[in-house]
Amino acid sequence: MASTPGVPLYDTDRYPQSLKAYLDHCEKDQCTSDFISRTLPDILANPCLFPFGYSVMIACLGNIDREILAQLHLKHPGVLVDNEVVEPSSQQLQKYRELVSQEPNLDFVNFTWNEMTTTEFEEHWRQKNITKKADFIHMVQVLYYVEDAEATISFFHSLLNKNGKLLIIIGAENGWMGLPIFIISKTFQHQLDAKWHPSKTVSPAVIKSLLNARGIPFKTYKLQSRVNVTPCFTEGDGTGELLLDFLTHVQGFSEMASPELRQEVLTVLRGCSVVQNGRVMANDYINAIVINSLD
Ligand SMILES: C[S@@+](CC[C@H](N)C(=O)[O-])C[C@H]1O[C@@H](n2cnc3c(N)ncnc32)[C@H](O)[C@@H]1O
Repeated sequence: MASTPGVPLYDTDRYPQSLKAYLDHCEKDQCTSDFISRTLPDILANPCLFPFGYSVMIACLGNIDREILAQLHLKHPGVLVDNEVVEPSSQQLQKYRELVSQEPNLDFVNFTWNEMTTTEFEEHWRQKNITKKADFIHMVQVLYYVEDAEATISFFHSLLNKNGKLLIIIGAENGWMGLPIFIISKTFQHQLDAKWHPSKTVSPAVIKSLLNARGIPFKTYKLQSRVNVTPCFTEGDGTGELLLDFLTHVQGFSEMASPELRQEVLTVLRGCSVVQNGRVMANDYINAIVINSLD
């Protein structure tokens, strides 16, 4: 039976639910949290960093972004942080606003809410002729969605103050976004929106060669992670369907896919996994790239 064309998940209301199911089943947040609590403090320790307390956060979701702000505060307790939040989804932005408004420990931060994409933010910056420089910028699991990742990195890097840092957290080639992209490239490339075609997708290797070509100093850290994909193997399981939507980045994947295609995806998924205590765990790893300013 032929499959019907897939609707790219990112453009639909199902994206936040599907992302949440994915995050609930992976160790990504845990390994990123470990990096933020164990390694980031040393990166932020330079007393020259953060003279003005101006930071930019690209895309927001919750715990990870708050933990980064908390570490900034621990290392630079006297500094009032001016934090630009750039997030195009009104739903995500609203959720994050509610989260931080209930958090008394974030009273050292003044948030500016920018409901826009990184490209729109860049236009806004240029139109207003803003000359402010940022001490710290972070982009956690977001570069896959921007229109032109290289241009985005170059623009935000150009905003860095002397001694400033740009932190990028991104899945490895066969990491958390690498996994769905791998599946997509094998099975859906003719049926999906072009923005999810793997050749258009940024990877840590692309970022590193961009930085090397421009002589920009950086350091990378590899973080180990896994995803529990067990529910995907129970047909009709609601969580499994949300996970499959996220892994393939197709809304209602099981409805659009023929039984053969669904089986093919599950076979690929099992091939990336190990079975441990009855759970099917897909292997995953993440890169943290800390980029320095060109002083
Ligand atoms: C996988 S989530 C990561 C969120 C958060 N930083 C984290 O790791 O917990 C990706 C986020 O990128 C946002 N996003 C998508 N396209 C974007 C763009 N062009 N510019 C900025 N953010 C974007 C999405 O709305 C979503 O909130």
